[in-house]
Amino acid sequence: MADISYLDDVAATRAGHDYKRALLAALAPTGAHTVLDIGCGPGTDLPALAALAGTTVGVDHDPTMVAEARRRTAALPDVRVLTADAHALPLPDHSVDRARADRVLQHVADPLRVLTEVRRVLRAGGLAAFAEPDWETLVVDPGDLDTGRTLARYLRTDVVRNAVVGRQLPRLAEEAGLEVRSATATAPVFRDFTEADRVFGLTRTAERAVRAGGLTRAEVDQWLTALTAGPFLASVVLSAVVVVKR
Ligand SMILES: C[S@@+](CC[C@H](N)C(=O)[O-])C[C@H]1O[C@@H](n2cnc3c(N)ncnc32)[C@H](O)[C@@H]1O
Repeated sequence: MADISYLDDVAATRAGHDYKRALLAALAPTGAHTVLDIGCGPGTDLPALAALAGTTVGVDHDPTMVAEARRRTAALPDVRVLTADAHALPLPDHSVDRARADRVLQHVADPLRVLTEVRRVLRAGGLAAFAEPDWETLVVDPGDLDTGRTLARYLRTDVVRNAVVGRQLPRLAEEAGLEVRSATATAPVFRDFTEADRVFGLTRTAERAVRAGGLTRAEVDQWLTALTAGPFLASVVLSAVVVVKR
């Protein structure tokens, strides 16, 4: 479960800033629109949406996130934050003009059902935008390749529920009856170990893998020592998909 400072840190990176700005531009909300942010977390993107939209609704199933999102948006008019499950949105049919879900589908029990809910609440002609990483594409350098691969596999199988939903988004959106307007992928590159460690949870995941028996303590120590020794690179593919409801 992501914590609030982690989400703030990701949003503050150059890569986080860039893809969030691109999602907002694709949705192009106006004062005539009701905009929904599914899995809004601590309200990371609600102020930017509220600055453009007529009404902004954030939804998250975690009461701690909802409380923080409400605190951050308390001074903004026409923002509501609801505690609810993305699989059963507490909104009427055809009541939303724009929707977004940012790194949420990777965590939900049934991404297709959430997309079907998005279709239900969108008005005809309404747009929705999604961004999801594809954790199978996580690469780091330097460090032993096999250890890095084992860690990426562990992340995919034991840590993130829908670790490759990024590549599945266009197909799932079409299965949900949404028309795909654009599907793009970017691979932001991090050259600073500390920043990459914060965003990708390299140390945290490596420690979990040791506890689970997937990697030995010696393998992880050696790997982390190599990563912090000098020049460094980490990257992951981030998929962004914009859909329209016909
Ligand atoms: C990685 S965080 C992203 C938060 C925010 N969108 C951002 O970009 O900072 C994922 C969020 O989705 C929420 N979430 C996960 N599963 C959910 C579900 N089934 N229904 C509603 N919210 C959910 C989590 O509580 C968390 O706040």
